[in-house]
Amino acid sequence: MSEYVKLASLKSINGFLAAIQRLNLHIPCDQEVLSGDASPLAQPITADGLTIGNRFTVQPMEGWDGTPDGRPSDLTFRRWRRFGSSGAKLIWGGEAVAVQHDGRANPNQLVLNEQTRDDIARLRDALVEEHRKACGSTDGLVIGLQLTHSGRYSRPKGKPEPRILYRHPILDRRLNLPDDYPVLTDGEIRQIIDSFIRAAKLAWQIGFDFVDVKHCHGYLGHEFLSAHTREGDYGGSFENRTRFLCEVVQGIRAEAPGLRIGVRLSAFDMVPFRPDPATSRPGKPGIGMPEPYEHLLPYRWGFGVNPQNPVEPDLTEPAAFLALLRELGILLVNLTAGSPYYNPHIQRPALYPPSDGYQPPEDPLAGVARQMWAVRTLKHQFPDTVIVGTAYTYLQEYIPYVAQAAVREGWTDLVGLGRMMLAYPELPRDVLEGRPLQTKRLCRTFSDCTTAPRNGLPSGCYPLDEFYRNSLLAEQLKRVKRSG
Ligand SMILES: Cc1cc2nc3c(=O)[nH]c(=O)nc-3n(C[C@H](O)[C@H](O)[C@H](O)COP(=O)(O)O)c2cc1C
Ligand code: SF4
Repeated sequence: MSEYVKLASLKSINGFLAAIQRLNLHIPCDQEVLSGDASPLAQPITADGLTIGNRFTVQPMEGWDGTPDGRPSDLTFRRWRRFGSSGAKLIWGGEAVAVQHDGRANPNQLVLNEQTRDDIARLRDALVEEHRKACGSTDGLVIGLQLTHSGRYSRPKGKPEPRILYRHPILDRRLNLPDDYPVLTDGEIRQIIDSFIRAAKLAWQIGFDFVDVKHCHGYLGHEFLSAHTREGDYGGSFENRTRFLCEVVQGIRAEAPGLRIGVRLSAFDMVPFRPDPATSRPGKPGIGMPEPYEHLLPYRWGFGVNPQNPVEPDLTEPAAFLALLRELGILLVNLTAGSPYYNPHIQRPALYPPSDGYQPPEDPLAGVARQMWAVRTLKHQFPDTVIVGTAYTYLQEYIPYVAQAAVREGWTDLVGLGRMMLAYPELPRDVLEGRPLQTKRLCRTFSDCTTAPRNGLPSGCYPLDEFYRNSLLAEQLKRVKRSG
């Protein structure tokens, strides 16, 4: 790890350019950042009849801080207000919101149903209000809600209660699932589809511009896409593996005709990774390495993975998926990759791992470049689809330079920011209004926002956001980290 580029210690954009050249990475980068109307990042873009006022997107960021019955708490309101104040004109989903209780990823995940709808409506209103205060108007502000069922990663009461679509030779072992552990039946899947449609209708009634039918990060929607080995209506062929999406979309079109639909997709994946025991020390996980997969070839448990070499992406099926989205009239797509549970270095490149992770097996800049490559490749094939790119936070000081070049050169339409929106939500406004970045507030990928919820605490930027840094929660997090 010591040899990885330390972005915080580079002195200038030339240092950054030299670093990516040394690593032989293809990352677009401008040498001067423009502001105001001249900035490519300030240009509006129209997606499915919605005009998005600029090219910054707040990615969905869950807080593990809802109430037991699925309503937002004060912490949730605070996070959404900060998202609103960012100046980004696309709010992609806010955070993952479960469509039914058993599909919650944790006992504090938001749930959208008749009982919680008014609270979630207020959450949206709070974001809009804060955006108005910060930006002077809400013109061009587009807000979606991310709908999810956590599937394999359901923990509605805190303990794992996986709802799986097929037996996975590696992930089942990690979850200690016995041989007779049940897979969801086609009938249970149809009930979940009804929950998605019901929740989408509620989201429409309370004013969201679109819903994201989540297909990423190992959760249920994503697991459908890799259900090669499942029998019945929802597994096997590409048509069957995308039936869940098609039925959800058909239902939403019928029940909420004015509501736009988006999809957040893990555009590629890899086998699960684990810490290398040879480099692991007490309190310090080893360097990430793939789980043994040689006996599993061709690998049939991934989506967007080369079956002969499952540590390599293969965008053939993801491209077919984007073609299907276009046929379904879905023109808003957010591309991410992998999963935070089994290959976090793919999903959210970081220098410091969360407590259940591993040391990065590659320079995290390579992870950024890989996601940018996938977005660029798919964008070229689908010029009419409006695409949000992911994994920009790791670029830190160099976000504006890379984001501007990526938009200007057509690598992506919108630049999504996740962790940076917890650490320094005003970054988009500072860039667009031509102010220098507040470098002390830049997310340095310490991963406490993941370590905290892995240990039952709410997420938040504990190192850099004073609110969390000075809270009792920070003391608890310190104790958890000390106890290793
Ligand atoms: C604390 C935390 C919560 C997240 N919650 C969600 C979520 O609710 N839905 C989702 O699709 N992605 C979620 N993500 C992933 C981010 O949206 C994003 O894809 C990831 O952090 C990489 O982008 P970044 O490099 O800008 O952080 C979360 C990430 C973190 C660190
Ligand atoms: S805790 Fe803060 S600095 Fe660390 S990864 Fe999360 S947002 Fe970034």
